Amino acid sequence: QVAAASGHTVVLVDQSDEILKKSTKGIEESLKRVTKKKFADKPEAGAEFIEKTLKNLTTSTDAVAVVHSTDLVIEAIVENQEVKNELFKRLDKFAPEHTIFASNTSSLQITQLANSTTRQDRFGGLHFFNPVPMMKLVEVIKTPMTSQKTFESLMDFSKAVGKSPVSCKDTPGFIVNRLLVPYMLEAVRLFERGDASKEDIDVAMKLGAGYPMGPFELLDYVGLDTCKYIIDGWHKLEPNNPLFAPSPLLNKLVEEKKLGKKTGEGFYNYK
Ligand code: 3HC
Repeated sequence: QVAAASGHTVVLVDQSDEILKKSTKGIEESLKRVTKKKFADKPEAGAEFIEKTLKNLTTSTDAVAVVHSTDLVIEAIVENQEVKNELFKRLDKFAPEHTIFASNTSSLQITQLANSTTRQDRFGGLHFFNPVPMMKLVEVIKTPMTSQKTFESLMDFSKAVGKSPVSCKDTPGFIVNRLLVPYMLEAVRLFERGDASKEDIDVAMKLGAGYPMGPFELLDYVGLDTCKYIIDGWHKLEPNNPLFAPSPLLNKLVEEKKLGKKTGEGFYNYK
């Protein structure tokens, strides 16, 4: 959405037409919200902006078939190393020589993903934040193999889509998640110990620390499955780090398919 809105030609790829239909509808809804604010006094200019943005966007269920026409691939699929590696390996064979590959992974090592391709110098991390149309940050990750030219292209692209990029080495969680995920897990532990209710913890962090959402609202918003993937991956890397300890309550909710807002229930009920 943000790439199309800033004039880039985008092909959105997903597994089925049904998902793509849902995604396109989500983008249309989100564009309406953005436009309502941005073009508050100029509804015609707003309608034109939506039309232009949607013109820049096509969809496909076949990544291999469309990758030949891309300068930049941004992968944002399931947070699973093998599945990502398999996709990158396949795309590497069909993508043009100059094409840069980037992953939006929240927690996996960019270096390991890059190693599934033959273009390690044209591979980096581009990590966006939910909700992407609103959050101004992008973390740009340079591995020891990423070329300076690729790094600069990723920084330029981030600015071209209206974001403020920061750079970080290829370390677990980069900047934001390295701080945010242990904080959210610590909130769950506080709740599990019975020290405070989740509602009070959320109110406390909003009114006492000025956060726009409390940790439980944010967990539900990000998705409990995503948070579990992140913490499980880090726990494997550093089993003795108490900040990376898995949470029995988070595991239980994920097992019950209570994944947060997207499934209608997580720590809170949205049905
Ligand atoms: N698309 C477009 N615009 C949106 C939007 C979306 N998806 N979501 C919110 N907005 C905009 C709209 O303009 C909306 O105005 P509207 O009411 O006219 O539609 C405006 O935001 C305000 O939204 P709300 O009134 O619904 O609620 P808030 O004022 O609380 O703002 C929020 C919503 C921007 C999501 C704010 O609560 C917030 O900043 N929350 C924290 C988000 C955060 O921490 N994100 C990082 C998560 S970590 C991550 O993503 C990393 C990953 O790797 C795990």
